[in-house]
Amino acid sequence: MKVLGVIGSPRETGNTAAMVNAVCKGAASAGHETEVINLTSLNIHDCIACCACKTGKVEYCAIKDDMQKIYPKILEADCLVIGTPVYMGQMTGQMKNFFDRWYTFMDANYQIHHLPGKKYITVTASGAPAEVFQSVSDYLNHWLGSFFKMELVQNIVGGGLGPADAISNQPELLVRSENTGRSLK
Ligand SMILES: Cc1cc2nc3c(=O)[nH]c(=O)nc-3n(C[C@H](O)[C@H](O)[C@H](O)COP(=O)(O)O)c2cc1C
Repeated sequence: MKVLGVIGSPRETGNTAAMVNAVCKGAASAGHETEVINLTSLNIHDCIACCACKTGKVEYCAIKDDMQKIYPKILEADCLVIGTPVYMGQMTGQMKNFFDRWYTFMDANYQIHHLPGKKYITVTASGAPAEVFQSVSDYLNHWLGSFFKMELVQNIVGGGLGPADAISNQPELLVRSENTGRSLK
């Protein structure tokens, strides 16, 4: 199985990154092929609503930025690990911009393609206790699960993670992340 981790935090070694990397470490130990990308270090423009992706005239998207090399990775992946901190009660802007560029995965009649059947894991990190921002996982489940017909493996919801290294006080979150990756079949 190919596993693609996507980190939507500007902290390249923060809490979200630690958990996404732990999921991928577990997946690798189970023999899966893994790759992790961090959206912050990539050039990903926001969607410009040109709707070229609905014309059939472009392969993925008319914007020639780093998404052009990420689209094939998404298509090849059997499991996506989507990691985002909670910013203002939601996913980060980086992650939302990334998802806006998934408009290409629905045709002009809003029929979904390429994504149905892929597995996904969500990882969220918030300063507040985990239960306060379960809503972010619920939102991701709505889009990835209900709308894009992907198959949920696990929502890993990290709370009490204000400082960048706060995860070091919650090793059980890393164990859970690694076990989730290792459980992939
Ligand atoms: C701009 C900004 C907005 C934030 N908004 C929230 C929030 O609404 N609720 C919350 O609990 N924590 C919030 N936080 C704290 C982050 O969710 C927390 O530090 C998280 O662990 C960051 O993950 P990271 O280390 O992977 O970047 C915010 C942090 C920043 C910088």
